Amino acid sequence: MIQLFHINKNFGGKPAILDLNLKIRAGEFVFVTGPSGAGKTTLLRLIFGSDIPDSGQILINGINLSRINRSKLTFLRRKIGFIFQDFRLLPKKTVFDNVALALEVVGERANNIKKSTRQTLKLVGLAEKEKAFPLQLSGGEQQRVAIARAIVKKPLILLADEPTGNLDPILTQDIMVLFRSIHLKGTTVVIATHNQELMNNTALRKIPLQKGNIIDC
Ligand SMILES: Nc1ncnc2c1ncn2[C@@H]1O[C@H](COP(=O)(O)OP(=O)(O)OP(=O)(O)O)[C@@H](O)[C@H]1O
Ligand SMILES: [Mg+2]
Repeated sequence: MIQLFHINKNFGGKPAILDLNLKIRAGEFVFVTGPSGAGKTTLLRLIFGSDIPDSGQILINGINLSRINRSKLTFLRRKIGFIFQDFRLLPKKTVFDNVALALEVVGERANNIKKSTRQTLKLVGLAEKEKAFPLQLSGGEQQRVAIARAIVKKPLILLADEPTGNLDPILTQDIMVLFRSIHLKGTTVVIATHNQELMNNTALRKIPLQKGNIIDC
């Protein structure tokens, strides 16, 4: 469960998130929507604990982020997969190593790392590219490596920031099917996007942000 109580986050005196209250149940699948600058990325970063609110409280599975130390936060983050809007792949590591690293840091056994990394790269359609380096890939391929890296550790919470921004419509649908299957296995999924197509034909909850708060529909 993700809970935000009266969250404020300012940058240079301007609010990016403004008195935001939000509850996302364990196992829910939600979209965070809204125009550029609405605060979608900031909201995901606050949930991940990589941005710290100026005021308010954030609870992840009952744990108050403002009351835990760095090592406990690192431990909590191991259970959260984050797909960054700008990918953040390591340019000197291969596709395989970029994904495998996510398992190495959580102390997974070597033979499991190999198996899970291969399986996940296959799931995102990149089995053939495991030896390539990020800069040898197209934008859509890099995006899928970023997705693989976030899901390989089977996180309890998946935070995805515009995860299909570089994908064509067919790949977008494939990735949505993948997210739905991860969700069906119990993961809480939060997708930030302004891609209407992604949200078409779904009854999933949409959280419409504007100027850092939820607008009433
Ligand atoms: N590190 C930062 N320093 C200064 N301002 C920031 C920073 N991060 C975000 N902002 C500002 O906070 C506001 C919300 O930004 P945010 O990146 O959360 O928007 P977004 O909804 O993700 O937009 P987009 O759809 O373009 O990704 C914007 O006005 C942005 O300029
Ligand atoms: Mg953003």
